[in-house]
Amino acid sequence: MSLPQKIGFIGTGAITDAMVRGLLAKPAAVPHVMVSMRSTEISAALAADFPQVLVSSDNQAIVDGCDTVVLAIRPQIAEEVVRPLRFRDGQAVISVVAATGRPALLDWIGADVRLSQAIPLPFVARRKGVTAVYPPDTNTAALFEVLGNAVECETKAEYDLLAAASALMATYFGIMHRTTAWLAEKGLPEEKGRAYLAPLFAGLAETAERAGKNVDFIELSRDFATRGGLNEQVLRDFSDKGGPDALTQALNHVLKRIAGQ
Ligand SMILES: NC(=O)c1ccc[n+]([C@@H]2O[C@H](COP(=O)([O-])OP(=O)(O)OC[C@H]3O[C@@H](n4cnc5c(N)ncnc54)[C@H](OP(=O)(O)O)[C@@H]3O)[C@@H](O)[C@H]2O)c1
Repeated sequence: MSLPQKIGFIGTGAITDAMVRGLLAKPAAVPHVMVSMRSTEISAALAADFPQVLVSSDNQAIVDGCDTVVLAIRPQIAEEVVRPLRFRDGQAVISVVAATGRPALLDWIGADVRLSQAIPLPFVARRKGVTAVYPPDTNTAALFEVLGNAVECETKAEYDLLAAASALMATYFGIMHRTTAWLAEKGLPEEKGRAYLAPLFAGLAETAERAGKNVDFIELSRDFATRGGLNEQVLRDFSDKGGPDALTQALNHVLKRIAGQ
């Protein structure tokens, strides 16, 4: 396994910003980074913050100048951006473009590259992101291990399932929001609700992470649901009112969309 000597990003938006900041946080994990000029503000800020960053207005120059190329443009324009580029056989290409399958990417790339797909999350900026990688690739996994953790998927089905799970982020904050809104309706100032809920959820997330991958989450749920207690009551009410069913249906629905690509 080895980390890239020169990694280039086609598309310098939110996720490139997060990845570059994570990779170049001290101690820097890679020696050279090239980013495309767009978005101008983000690329200028990256170049100002890190001497290792070179900005180019020419996407082909990035492909030519780097051993590893990350495709980080929106799916709607991916074909028109990628098709004209000339890649080298054997070059490493990592696509983080959502909703765009491997066959289409390989067709647009038009060379025998080592293509991986990945789903980085914004927390890679703090080296705390968990990233699904497909197919398993030691170098791509090593890159995302620097940025937190990598989970390698043996099949597209596994990768699609993790993509579906990653779509829960807005719902997570939605639960926090609904709770602070309810607290406010009942008379607790919203900022007090937020000051209470953020550390509560952080503590729960840390408990799950510390428990490790062999502990079933239902065991943690039971640990926190004292018999006859308040947590047990809320969990029962939530289940009786269809909470878990709504979650399952939402996951099935988004999986259908993801797997249809
Ligand atoms: N954000 C996330 O958390 C996240 C996580 C995983 C995967 N993704 C995926 O990663 C991709 C990028 O997402 P994002 O959130 O970073 O989107 P974004 O902020 O919109 O960034 C896309 C960037 O591509 C640039 N661009 C447009 N045309 C270009 C061209 N011809 N050459 C070079 N750059 C060009 C845009 O520049 P202009 O602004 O100048 O048009 C913009 O800066 C998407 O496919 C998304 O689904 C995102």
